[in-house]
Amino acid sequence: MEEKVINTGLRGVTIASTKISDVDGAIGKLVYRGYLAKDLAGKVSFEEITYLLLYEELPSETELTDFKQRIAQERTIPDELVTFLEASPKDALPMDILQASVSILAQYDPDLKDASRDGSARMAVRMIAKFATIVAAWDRIRNHHKPIPPNPDLTHAANFLYMLNGEVPDDELSGYLDTCLVLHAEHSFNASTFAAREVASTRAHMYAAVGAAVGSLSGALHGGANTRVMQMLLEIGSMDKVDDYVRDTLEKGGVIMGLGHAVYQTDDPRAHILAPMSKALGERIEDTLWYDLSKALETKGKAAFKEKKGRDIYVNVDFFSASLYYYMGIAVDLFTPVFAVSRIAGWCAHVLEEQFAEAAPKTALYRPESDYVGDYCGPDECVFVPIDER
Ligand SMILES: CC(C)(COP(=O)(O)OP(=O)(O)OC[C@H]1O[C@@H](n2cnc3c(N)ncnc32)[C@H](O)[C@@H]1OP(=O)(O)O)[C@@H](O)C(=O)NCCC(=O)NCCS
Repeated sequence: MEEKVINTGLRGVTIASTKISDVDGAIGKLVYRGYLAKDLAGKVSFEEITYLLLYEELPSETELTDFKQRIAQERTIPDELVTFLEASPKDALPMDILQASVSILAQYDPDLKDASRDGSARMAVRMIAKFATIVAAWDRIRNHHKPIPPNPDLTHAANFLYMLNGEVPDDELSGYLDTCLVLHAEHSFNASTFAAREVASTRAHMYAAVGAAVGSLSGALHGGANTRVMQMLLEIGSMDKVDDYVRDTLEKGGVIMGLGHAVYQTDDPRAHILAPMSKALGERIEDTLWYDLSKALETKGKAAFKEKKGRDIYVNVDFFSASLYYYMGIAVDLFTPVFAVSRIAGWCAHVLEEQFAEAAPKTALYRPESDYVGDYCGPDECVFVPIDER
């Protein structure tokens, strides 16, 4: 039988052209539609970057004002969804709640059956606007509080923190979250984006594709890593325990969360922007322990990995975002949903590109092959035996 080449994890396999973003793993470069993400961070809002991702160019001032208004108007979620949240077990995993909410939201979208690009883009804007509301409402409800209605006068980042805590955050805090949302919004064909594109390639609707992406993002090796980074920091707890933690983890063949990446062979450029923000927020509350622990873990984890494997390992986006979100007072198991509140912008842009891109080569239904290594089903083998004869 002909031997098949297996590309485990699809590494190195190019499956489509995209104009949305580019990751150059060798030099740690991340580009959103022709702009370096590091140049955008701190200078543009999440709304502005979302416009860029969806509509392919940066907005004018008027376009941005209109777009912000649209997002603000679409933030409210249906009462039926709130009823679902209230009826859900309070210990449900937030990413499961978010994924279920996507399917429920679909049922209330007037464009669900409109298969045009405009219809899909309208669905995208609604979902992008509502994700933050769902995550915040769930956190309130599971803690036996009433959800706080969105405030249309606030930015997307500020409104999210407001809906979580009931307090309008100051500019520094909301600005840092805004930068986090910008940095997490898009990252080419990562696992969840690929999941969204794969579903979109079947011509399923925007909600079906995004629901799949949420499931993919929840995994520990993908978006779920930021929550695990914080759990790891909490487990370590003090500077004198970092050495033991690193040694024990690597000895047992475990992974240090927040280190390593499928594409970057250098530090993730986003980590270099997130780290100083974590430090600044730690200093602001006069408790830099979580930042200090992260720095020590980075240094010692990198050194121990090099000693063990003979090669370098680098920090990824989740490494410093963990302590940063913790300093913002966000619950640890909400870190991955916060990632989704941002990444949904990228997912939606990819679904639109997958289904409506005019540039060649056109995308096709994804259908990879597998190498069957089970029992051979020739005419004389694996003969079916009815159940009463087994
Ligand atoms: C992200 C990740 C899945 C990339 O995986 P990958 O491309 O298959 O990993 P690599 O090829 O770089 O590394 C392969 C080897 O390094 C080890 N390795 C990779 N990341 C490691 C980490 N963070 N800590 C310890 N060992 C690690 C693997 O266990 C593997 O060891 P083996 O050869 O003995 O089996 C992996 O680095 C990881 O699990 N990191 C922790 C989770 C995380 O932070 N995820 C968020 C990614 S943005």
